[in-house]
Amino acid sequence: MITKTLDIQTIRKDFPILQREVNGKPLVYLDNAATSQTPQQVIDTIVDYYQNYNANIHRGVHTLSQEATDAYEAARQKIQKHFNIAKAHEIIFTSGTTQSINLVATGFTSFLKEGDEILVSAMEHHSNIVPWQMLCERTGALLKVIPMNLDGELVMEEYHNLLSDKTKLVFCNHVSNALGTVNPIEKIIDAAHKVGAAVLIDGAQAAPHIKADLQALDVDFYTVSAHKMCGPTGVGMLYGKEEWLKKLPPYQGGGEMIAEVTFEKTTYADLPHKFEAGTPNICGGIAFGAALDYMNSIGFDAIAQYEDELLQYATEQLLTIEGLKIYGTAVHKTSVISFNIEGIHPYDIGTIVDKLGIAVRTGHHCAQPIMDFYQIPGTVRASFSFYNTKEEVDKLVEGIKRAKNMLL
Ligand code: ALA
Repeated sequence: MITKTLDIQTIRKDFPILQREVNGKPLVYLDNAATSQTPQQVIDTIVDYYQNYNANIHRGVHTLSQEATDAYEAARQKIQKHFNIAKAHEIIFTSGTTQSINLVATGFTSFLKEGDEILVSAMEHHSNIVPWQMLCERTGALLKVIPMNLDGELVMEEYHNLLSDKTKLVFCNHVSNALGTVNPIEKIIDAAHKVGAAVLIDGAQAAPHIKADLQALDVDFYTVSAHKMCGPTGVGMLYGKEEWLKKLPPYQGGGEMIAEVTFEKTTYADLPHKFEAGTPNICGGIAFGAALDYMNSIGFDAIAQYEDELLQYATEQLLTIEGLKIYGTAVHKTSVISFNIEGIHPYDIGTIVDKLGIAVRTGHHCAQPIMDFYQIPGTVRASFSFYNTKEEVDKLVEGIKRAKNMLL
């Protein structure tokens, strides 16, 4: 298959923030795994909403309410098409992946009992650990961990050994935020289903790089945050198979999620509204749709190919620095590189390169168990997007060399 070549300089013009300076230097933004930047097309969508049709949805007969409702529901359909989801009502708008996971974890409270088991991968973000620990506390279920190896890959043999008829749920990220590992979720889902367990895949880090086909994956739940994929913060989605969403109780009570309310009894609205209590992030949902349009106009195959090239180049260049060690050397990775330099705290590197206009994340990346596994306090993490360039990689490498000279 021939993949189109991206015109990165033209793409960069879509992102106003990339034109700014930080500490007197052109911004080199390499913290895309924390949040991606926002193209003008998405910013225009947000401005257009507030300038022209800001109104509450699903409530009013007036024109503005109708226009806002239509745009919001059109965004749901864009999400449906993008992730190849069978039914639009299997998409719940949430504030992001964390809320999506909490919704499912809370909903499973009445389905689990003492002795049931939940499997979670060793490379999860705290948002895919803590809600399940809370669920275990409520139900007496047991949390078990699918181990990983030093390359940052799950040990699939151990996973198969852990699965049994006690396993009720399996949780794993599609891509690790701290290491960039792309996990073999097809195999994980398949094996879990064979023992009758449901699977939730945290797609937050995968969605900017991989266009997941949720019907083909046959996954039970999949979560996404818009702000990782050129959309705004505070909005995301939970995909759930209809059969599960029908069974799960509502997450929050309020307006919008009801069919009828009396002081004696309330009946709940149909999907997806049963899970969408209160006025949602209307503008955010519409902008999420615009972000998908934008990324699809560039093309996910082209994005993946370009980011792979950047990953390979950055890996090679970083490894020329003596004493630099990369954490996460899986065969299948997205464009995330976590590293340390012997004898230097990651925070110090992050602070010095910031003075050069370079934004990287430092610390445990909300994945403390991974840091414990490697027995390190944290890492420096550079995460690349399709609007980054090899010249920016070179600036990072130069910046780290400078930091090293200053600190050692
Ligand atoms: N989960 C985000 C990150 O990895 C915030 O940086």
